[in-house]
Amino acid sequence: MKTLFAVLGLTLMLNAADGSALFQKCTACHGQKAEKKALGKSEIIAGWKEAKTLDALKGYKAGTRNTKGMGALMKGQVASVSDADMKVLAKYIATLKK
Ligand code: HEC
Repeated sequence: MKTLFAVLGLTLMLNAADGSALFQKCTACHGQKAEKKALGKSEIIAGWKEAKTLDALKGYKAGTRNTKGMGALMKGQVASVSDADMKVLAKYIATLKK
């Protein structure tokens, strides 16, 4: 039983680490804690609801979202991000404080 809890705990930790690891490729523009306006253009996305971020990321990937004239740039950022990873990212961003 003890081992089971240890394994569960480890899995949770790994999941949590996953989001921050994935987010590393976003920090140059959005800031370490998503606290910056990316390139002075985007909204500050720290604390955005998971669904809102996921919607935005899917829109960029599909090429349908472009709120500040820089949608093409974000499209490049998420082109190789899988749907599953987008979910992880959106979950992680929701945990960041403004
Ligand atoms: C090279 C700089 C850059 C990088 C790297 C980058 N972004 Fe962005 N991001 C932007 C810009 C600029 C916008 C505004 C795009 C537009 O015009 O709609 C934006 C917009 C967004 C938005 C919507 C915010 C809004 O204003 O509507 C989200 C969510 C987002 N980015 C998440 C991410 C995630 C997650 C990553 C990493 C996978 C990432 N970005 C990487 C520059 C960047």
